[in-house]
Amino acid sequence: MTTAVREYQALLGALPRERASLLSGLHLLQHHDGYISIEGMRALADRIRVPAVEVHAAATTYSELRFAPAPTGLRRVCTGLACRINGADALLREERATGAPVEEVACLFNCGMAPVLEAGEPPAMIGHAGVAARPPHPAAGVPPVPATSNGSGRRTALLVGGGSCGRAVGAGTVLAALRDAAGGTALDVIETGCDGACWAQPLVRLRPANGTPVVLALNATAEDAAGLAAAGAAYAEQASAGPASAHGAWCTGQERRVLARCGTIDPASLAEYRAAGGYAAWERVRRVLSPEAVQQLVAESGLLGRGGAYFPVARKWETALASPGEVYLVVNLEEGEPGVYKDRHLCEGDPHAVLEGTLIAAHALQAPRVFIYINGQADLAAQRITQAIAAAGDAGLLPAGLQVEVLRGAGGYVCGEESVILNSIEGQRAVPRLRPPFPAESGLWGQPTVINNAETLANLPLIVRHGSGWFRGVGADQAPGTKLLCLSGAVSRPGLVEVPFGTPLRPIIEEVAGAVAGRTVALVTGGPSGGLIPERLLDQQLRPGMLDEGGAILGAGGMTLLDESLSPLEAVRHLTAYNAAESCGKCTPCREGTARTEALLALAATRPLQADERQQLAALNETIRLASLCGLGQAAPNPVTSLLRHWPEAGGGV
Ligand SMILES: Cc1cc2nc3c(=O)[nH]c(=O)nc-3n(C[C@H](O)[C@H](O)[C@H](O)COP(=O)(O)O)c2cc1C
Ligand code: SF4
Ligand code: FES
Repeated sequence: MTTAVREYQALLGALPRERASLLSGLHLLQHHDGYISIEGMRALADRIRVPAVEVHAAATTYSELRFAPAPTGLRRVCTGLACRINGADALLREERATGAPVEEVACLFNCGMAPVLEAGEPPAMIGHAGVAARPPHPAAGVPPVPATSNGSGRRTALLVGGGSCGRAVGAGTVLAALRDAAGGTALDVIETGCDGACWAQPLVRLRPANGTPVVLALNATAEDAAGLAAAGAAYAEQASAGPASAHGAWCTGQERRVLARCGTIDPASLAEYRAAGGYAAWERVRRVLSPEAVQQLVAESGLLGRGGAYFPVARKWETALASPGEVYLVVNLEEGEPGVYKDRHLCEGDPHAVLEGTLIAAHALQAPRVFIYINGQADLAAQRITQAIAAAGDAGLLPAGLQVEVLRGAGGYVCGEESVILNSIEGQRAVPRLRPPFPAESGLWGQPTVINNAETLANLPLIVRHGSGWFRGVGADQAPGTKLLCLSGAVSRPGLVEVPFGTPLRPIIEEVAGAVAGRTVALVTGGPSGGLIPERLLDQQLRPGMLDEGGAILGAGGMTLLDESLSPLEAVRHLTAYNAAESCGKCTPCREGTARTEALLALAATRPLQADERQQLAALNETIRLASLCGLGQAAPNPVTSLLRHWPEAGGGV
């Protein structure tokens, strides 16, 4: 036995000897060597008692796994839509010109900080890469007004927005400088998640011991630290209202329910979550609400899933409960769709809220096992939810007998599709399953399995705490409540916002996100599965499903604004090329059809399409939509449908 084999055996020695350990084993190997070697896969196959050929077949379905060492000094440039609109093509050229190894990535899920680059060892994201740093805003003065007690008994603190967006533009440096500057004072300095204002990160707040947090500085730098610490110390006991600022106006345009705590509490502190009302709902559920009572409450609330399909939560639960066997619960935190970063933000800023919702759902379903499936690149979100589970366990908040497991995905858009997650958890190839049966009838190992999105679950504590009537108090009749939207592209305030269903799109785009008047060409919604809404049609309301008849769907809430820097034809070609690359290849219409569509769009970019080519494009679109097995293929034609309907002249009459 070689030394390498012995090393692998030691590395994998703690894995349960079952197929479900496959992806965890692959992660261990990749972490150990930086890639997955043939010897490593053989050792894993031995450990989990699965033929090596099957380990290899499954491993190669994950796009984030490497099977050869990464070149030294590798730099990864995001060339997703939001980054391209913000200069990624030029950034890519500059990076290549340096001679360093460069890879293109479809999205780094930090679209509010576009253009984004990943570099260094360990790799770290750099936001606004290659763009002159924005001038920091001066620390705004805080009016000395009387405080109201929040009853938490905590110390006055400076809070630094340190989600993955803030970290990509220097939140770590600001945090360190503030800790230095505040040394010897009575101020705590705490890293929070981002409140959604990615455009303002690193954002610094003052949170008085007995008062409401106020914003002290947007786009803070280390040079601001001394002034901010002095302002914090001076107003520590008095501040309760912030100055009028762009941030204040940005908040006013929203209905912040799910996001209420993000940016204002320490995500690593269970005590802070509880002081802000956290776990009150779960305590009530445990004490007085039967599973049936929770199901009833959720049915009355009319809550729809927030993962993109907007299926009624209570109906999915009912199906699972009516199916034979114990119900398992899967929390979908895969979020692999370019342009969408809401679930990461939520977990980075308020992980206990996702966990509390998960516990309520597990109670309603009487589920003995919960699987929290998180994107393999979302390290900070994974770290914070893992910490939250440990803290909740230590505090006795997890019911005896409930098993909560965190699993990491490994890339690929299709890996967020619910049946792919089931295969992934079971250690099978990451491809969709045929339906029926639906996962709620027969999912993990044949057991009824409910898969809910993280944002969906984060609504549950609010429904339990405030009631279904309160929940229905905002939103639309058929779609109550609020929705998280990820705004990016040609906007001056990219980030994550929360607005009720029924809100008109135009004010969200123009007033909240800050689109420049006269420059907007179209809004891309629903990412690669969505479509383009031309500027003239933006006066529609936010609703689940189709936003217009041209194929634009709301999807998970990604919204990228297109200006004249990228034509609708180029944008649609970009999205179609992405779908073609991400097709798992299981069905021919999706595998071949998306590639053929992309080729026709590439042709349209060089010369007008002829009549037969236009017919072929339309026919391909219809075939892919009707004959694909899963949502990726079924929705892949949407961007092309938009182009055909709204820009028939593009490419000379597409
Ligand atoms: C290609 C594809 C990717 C998807 N990615 C995600 C995802 O990243 N997160 C998510 O919650 N749902 C995703 N979905 C939807 C899930 O299949 C499923 O509908 C959802 O997790 C159910 O949760 P909900 O009912 O709470 O919305 C995806 C669907 C498709 C077709
Ligand atoms: S539609 Fe595409 S992604 Fe979905 S199963 Fe078929 S080939 Fe795979
Ligand atoms: S981070 Fe570049 S498009 Fe998402």
